[in-house]
Amino acid sequence: MSSTRRGFLKGILGTGAAGAAASTLPGCAPDIDPAPVTDISASAQGTVDILVSRYPDLEPVGGALTVRVPGTETVPLLVVHSKDDGAPDDFSVLSSICTHVGCPLGYDGKDVICPCHLSRFNARDGAVLQRPATVALQTFSSEYNVNTGVLRINLRAGQSDFPPAVAGEVVLPLSQFPALRDVGGSVTGVPDGYGRRIFVFRMQDGSLSAVDSICTHLNCEVEHRTQEADLFCACHASIFTLDGAVTQGPATRPLKRFTVSETPDSVVLTGVA
Ligand code: FES
Ligand code: FES
Repeated sequence: MSSTRRGFLKGILGTGAAGAAASTLPGCAPDIDPAPVTDISASAQGTVDILVSRYPDLEPVGGALTVRVPGTETVPLLVVHSKDDGAPDDFSVLSSICTHVGCPLGYDGKDVICPCHLSRFNARDGAVLQRPATVALQTFSSEYNVNTGVLRINLRAGQSDFPPAVAGEVVLPLSQFPALRDVGGSVTGVPDGYGRRIFVFRMQDGSLSAVDSICTHLNCEVEHRTQEADLFCACHASIFTLDGAVTQGPATRPLKRFTVSETPDSVVLTGVA
């Protein structure tokens, strides 16, 4: 691996994760480069605006850019200017970190490609097209304004059928989420205003737990395994308890936890920000 690429890995992933990714790079990896990196701050509302004409690596159809968002927990974003359907100004925004062992991703004008071990992902929905990666890339909501030439990424977009986060609070009415009345019950969704999946569980002792879904290893999304009663990260097999503690690495830090309280007719999460 060239010192340039090793430096790039450190720059985008940080020293520890870069070391893990770099140690798995094959010596004969073809020279497919990760997308160039830039830093763009988010607004207070969690939007990132990109004036496309300012970024020559992104402006042409087939271009791509890695966007880090300083001061947020957001994974670096891969923004691609696709040419599907022949549309000249069509953009997709995905996680820029390969779900195999965490290399930064590039774009060949058609698919998202990992330079390390050549996994391929669909540039639209992040689906795996070629292994060794087995887990899809995270995608982010975005909208391109043809009049202003600005691509707006909404980091906090959520599901319309799940309660939004307002001032860091999510209220789950028990009439809408009756599973939370029962021991062993659970609900999951992405609150608008937060933009990341959360899980809420009624634990065996009757208490409630609410945790973020983003794995603390390399930012893949964990899944709830009902049989095992745990949270499993399919990227590198970390396992967490339903209240977020690590029971199996490589993750070493717990999932982000939210404070949970109850009223007679709702469950209230705070700290969802
Ligand atoms: S890190 Fe191995 S294919 Fe991406
Ligand atoms: S991202 Fe590596 S174990 Fe979850």
